[in-house]
Amino acid sequence: MVQAHIVGTGSAMPERVLSNKDMESIVDTSDEWIVRRSGIKERRISSTGRDESTTSLATRASLDALKMAGIPAEDLDMMVVGTVTPDRQFPSAACMVQKELGARNAFAFDVSAGCAGFLYALSMVDNAVKCGMSKTALVVGVERLSSVVNWQDRSTCVLLADGAGAVVIHAGPNKGGILSTHLKSDGTAWELLYASYGNSAPPEILQGLDQKPFFLKMEGNKIFKRAIQCLSEISREALEHNSLESEDIALVVPHQANIRIIQGLASNLQIPMERVYTNIHKYGNTSSGTIPIALHEANREGLLKKGAHVLIVSFGAGLTWAAAVLTWSI
Ligand code: ACO
Repeated sequence: MVQAHIVGTGSAMPERVLSNKDMESIVDTSDEWIVRRSGIKERRISSTGRDESTTSLATRASLDALKMAGIPAEDLDMMVVGTVTPDRQFPSAACMVQKELGARNAFAFDVSAGCAGFLYALSMVDNAVKCGMSKTALVVGVERLSSVVNWQDRSTCVLLADGAGAVVIHAGPNKGGILSTHLKSDGTAWELLYASYGNSAPPEILQGLDQKPFFLKMEGNKIFKRAIQCLSEISREALEHNSLESEDIALVVPHQANIRIIQGLASNLQIPMERVYTNIHKYGNTSSGTIPIALHEANREGLLKKGAHVLIVSFGAGLTWAAAVLTWSI
């Protein structure tokens, strides 16, 4: 049986940097509160004047990853995009990115799984490769949360941001690559984090009938506790499945929602923070984007060595949570 190997990584961030100081002029908050409670110092927010749509960011990240892999877009046979903020209700972001890339030989679809979107998408591709359905695939995590955030709600707008990351997957030797993926969800708690709708305005005929804002709502405190518990449990499950111990993991690449959640996870797994990748201070929470962006940056910084075991783990709206263990292939 073949294994799915990551052979290229890429990312694309909006140009505009919004610092905590900038947030102080938007809502009643402070740099001190945001850093202490979340670890975020600044975030990237897309601008309407620039070409920074979900499709554009995803396309740029994908081109970056394809370039590193040395694979032309026509070679892709499968594309999966994890996102909750596609540019259109339909078609999928994946089909819109397919057009931009000229990936005419791929089939393409989106996965909506909150902040676990990238890992859910990675799992679909991993299984497609293992059963022979795909040989060369693209997995993207992209978000423009600025389009669904309530910019008057200080408890969410300081945390959430925009960005995209991508990986190219290739079917390769039956050793290493993605070792296993683990997916969970609990729909009974969906009301802890949701947005009524994303990017579309209501049809004109309904305007005036339904004045509810389409903003994202989150009960952060309740999610915080669930996040540490679920991330820890699924990480242990993933390690046990592969007969690995915490000390076998060279780098943990966790979802970047809150530095205190990441520290809680590291402490539960007894993994020192030096072996946990964080870039939340620069980008905030880009939902499906955080993991592929972090993977690309860790890769560029030389922190991912060929043959090293990597644990990837995420938690988000749904509720959904997921983990993957892989042996780095490049
Ligand atoms: N600035 C200043 N004060 C604030 C701000 C702010 N930006 N936001 C909230 N506060 C206040 C609150 O009003 C509250 O005041 P009170 O005590 O007078 O009522 C106080 O700070 C504490 O609020 P809490 O919500 O209890 O703060 P907490 O320590 O829990 O931190 C946070 C909030 C950062 C949201 C945290 O709970 C968290 O990170 N939760 C998890 C988020 C997450 O993982 N989401 C899932 C992924 S996201 C996705 O899927 C899109």
